[in-house]
Amino acid sequence: AKNRTFTMLKPDAVENGNIGAILELINTSGFRIVAMKLTQMSRKDAETFYAVHNERPFFGELVEYMTRGPIVAAVLEKDNAVEDFRTLIGATNPAEAAEGTIRKKYAASIGENAVHGSDSDENAAIEAAFHFAGRELF
Ligand code: CMP
Repeated sequence: AKNRTFTMLKPDAVENGNIGAILELINTSGFRIVAMKLTQMSRKDAETFYAVHNERPFFGELVEYMTRGPIVAAVLEKDNAVEDFRTLIGATNPAEAAEGTIRKKYAASIGENAVHGSDSDENAAIEAAFHFAGRELF
């Protein structure tokens, strides 16, 4: 069934000029863009968005990274969107990411890994609502 996932093209992807190339891959992989914007997370935004990781040793680094510049936030729709998008982005660690995946092509490291993809339908809805008002979803 058709469902939705949430993604962010992270600050490194924007800095490196990879917005267009990544959106092209997203489009040609069959995802419909439901919502999209260039935005920058505040420290509080990042701490809230990544609250599940707040006990991890890399939490401070993660918040610094995610707030250092603009991101592209988007909601994507497709059959099996959450799982298929995670397949398209590849493993968290780009060294382990499959050939042809977004992280294999555009991510530098496990910390700076270019793109976010929701890990469940429930989190996709929470994350989309964090970044977008109802009138911004098409
Ligand atoms: P993501 O899986 O989208 O969400 C959690 C993020 O934390 C992950 O991407 C990385 O950006 C970051 N992360 C996960 N593991 C590590 C790690 N071992 N060191 C640094 N950053 C990490």
